[in-house]
Amino acid sequence: MEENKKYYITTPIYYPSGDFHVGTCYCTLMADALARYKRLRGYDVFFMTGTDEHGQKIEEKAKAKGVTPKEYVDEFVSRAKKLWKLLDISYDKYMRTTDEYHVKAVQKICQKLYDQGDIYKGEYKGLYCTPCESFWTETQLVDGKCPDCGREVKEVKEESYFFRLSKYQDRLLKYYEEHPEFLEPEKRKNEMIKNFFDKGLEDLCVTRTTIDWGIRVPFDPKHTVYVWLDALTNYITALGYTTDNDEMMKKYWPADIHLVGKEIFRFHSIIWPAILMALDLPLPKKIFGHGWLVVNGKKISKSFGNYKEPSVYINATSVDALRYYLMKEVTFGEDGNFSEELFVERINSDLSNDLGNLVSRVTAMIEKYNNGIICKKENLPLQDIDKDLIDTATATVENVEKYMDDLKTNEAITELWKLVSKANKYIDLTTPWVLAKEENKDRLNQVLYNLLEAIRIIAIPLQICFVDTPQKIFEQIGANKEETTWDSAKVFGVLKDGTKVTKGELLFPRVEMTDELFKVPEEVEEPKEDEDRKGIITIDELDKVELKVGQIKKVEKVAKSKKLYELKVDVGEKELRTIVSGIVPYYTEEELLNKQIVVVTNLKPAKLCGIESNGMLLAAGDYDVVKLLVLDNNNGTLENGTNIH
Ligand code: MSP
Repeated sequence: MEENKKYYITTPIYYPSGDFHVGTCYCTLMADALARYKRLRGYDVFFMTGTDEHGQKIEEKAKAKGVTPKEYVDEFVSRAKKLWKLLDISYDKYMRTTDEYHVKAVQKICQKLYDQGDIYKGEYKGLYCTPCESFWTETQLVDGKCPDCGREVKEVKEESYFFRLSKYQDRLLKYYEEHPEFLEPEKRKNEMIKNFFDKGLEDLCVTRTTIDWGIRVPFDPKHTVYVWLDALTNYITALGYTTDNDEMMKKYWPADIHLVGKEIFRFHSIIWPAILMALDLPLPKKIFGHGWLVVNGKKISKSFGNYKEPSVYINATSVDALRYYLMKEVTFGEDGNFSEELFVERINSDLSNDLGNLVSRVTAMIEKYNNGIICKKENLPLQDIDKDLIDTATATVENVEKYMDDLKTNEAITELWKLVSKANKYIDLTTPWVLAKEENKDRLNQVLYNLLEAIRIIAIPLQICFVDTPQKIFEQIGANKEETTWDSAKVFGVLKDGTKVTKGELLFPRVEMTDELFKVPEEVEEPKEDEDRKGIITIDELDKVELKVGQIKKVEKVAKSKKLYELKVDVGEKELRTIVSGIVPYYTEEELLNKQIVVVTNLKPAKLCGIESNGMLLAAGDYDVVKLLVLDNNNGTLENGTNIH
């Protein structure tokens, strides 16, 4: 892989606000499609998504549910990960702003900005929209309400620290001018400049004293960091910014693209670049503000009551059908309508009729007329109609590349369907069933071969959008790995003579639009008893954890790490166990040697810095103070390997 062929792509990190709908999936699905495209083209892709877990909104939601904010966000994250699995989102890292490394890095960033005078103390007086976590001035309100969500704003007055955003105004404008590709689409850039720069940028309030659930400001801990400063920096803290391990930062920063929804475009195009300028870091190559998914003109959102969980659509159809609809129906950058009727129509026409039928007709004919064996007729002259199909097929992938590189994702899909439709027409014009009847075997085989090649060439770029279907097609047409590489889609005539074709099940069965099709399953209320017992385990569950007395016999620092010791521990077995433990900051080698400690002995082995660790030492505390659970040995000692109950 070439050194510079890297692609760092991010989605926004989501608020754990509880509503999952096709709108919230949209950005992640599009990012996934772009990541898949770049991987197919041989890029080293780093695709990141995650959750934005601090702030008043979370604090309030957790309180309403009677759980701690951390419990609340943990539950959300597990639901989010399930959803991304269902949609087959191929992210490389799931970022959480409550992760310790992020918290520490944000504190270091704040300290740096404060030390260099980019953050200063002042008093904040203004209007705050809690759901949007946004501050507004009187003039920005629309009918006295938040201009983004239309909800009430609160007047707040408090001591705050400010980021000198105004200082970066000219540098930002100059940057936009010199890098026209930085902010897209163009119209959003212009709108943003008009709305915010024409009036002049104001310094930004970046701390709060009234919000507890946030990152503490290191130089004044009664303040917490404003969520947007906390959230935006996730794009670099995830790469290890401010830590000793900056390999990822060197490799992937600057990001190639941040995909964001249009309402948060301004945070990404003004505040984020200004912070990066203050940190003296290069800016991302592109910030792309996509539109919203709407139903009858209204943004899909829980507050508008016009949403259903994406699983309702996926369970009734397929994940590929939903991915297709979102990528094809919405012009990337514009708002797009989500209509259940249109969704069904697309499945029946584009997927079932056009693509599905093409594959099933061709594979069925090969089975029927040639026992499922491909016969490649190389020395038979091509007819005009063949040449036309071949020309379209070989141009397809290059056109797809062009559209994908320009972020014209729906046009890339349209390009593929041009070939689907050409191939279907080719069947109608060459009439293989007539050739079979006439026993024109050579021409029949030539026609069927051309069709299989067209299908192969369609299925390769289809992997940008679809997660199951391309593999099914490759299996049906007998294409092996080399015959499905990106570059092989630029060549016609790759499938080998003698390959076995096997007709499979219908790729996309037709769907009938009924009242029942997308019915939301009734919510099953969990028994109250379980609710109260949340987090409680039975004695049998506890018994699964094997705890033993162990004694540390050898201690060595792991060369590549600042935290890890490689320990040899006697747990009463023939051989000493190797356990890798991150306690270098808390214990010296001498302090550890010969200590009797508590070991989890039936933990799945894990590799840490290339060393296989077989077990775990129990310890209490986190971050600053960590204490091993050590046996006191006051009244005699226990044998190593003794079970702990
Ligand atoms: N936490 C911030 C982002 C911080 S990034 C440093 C946030 N979170 S969010 O959960 O409210 O929104 C996440 C993304 O979902 C946004 O890009 C938003 O535009 C997108 N969508 C939410 N509803 C949507 C639609 N109906 N349609 C398309 N995207 C929408 O903002």
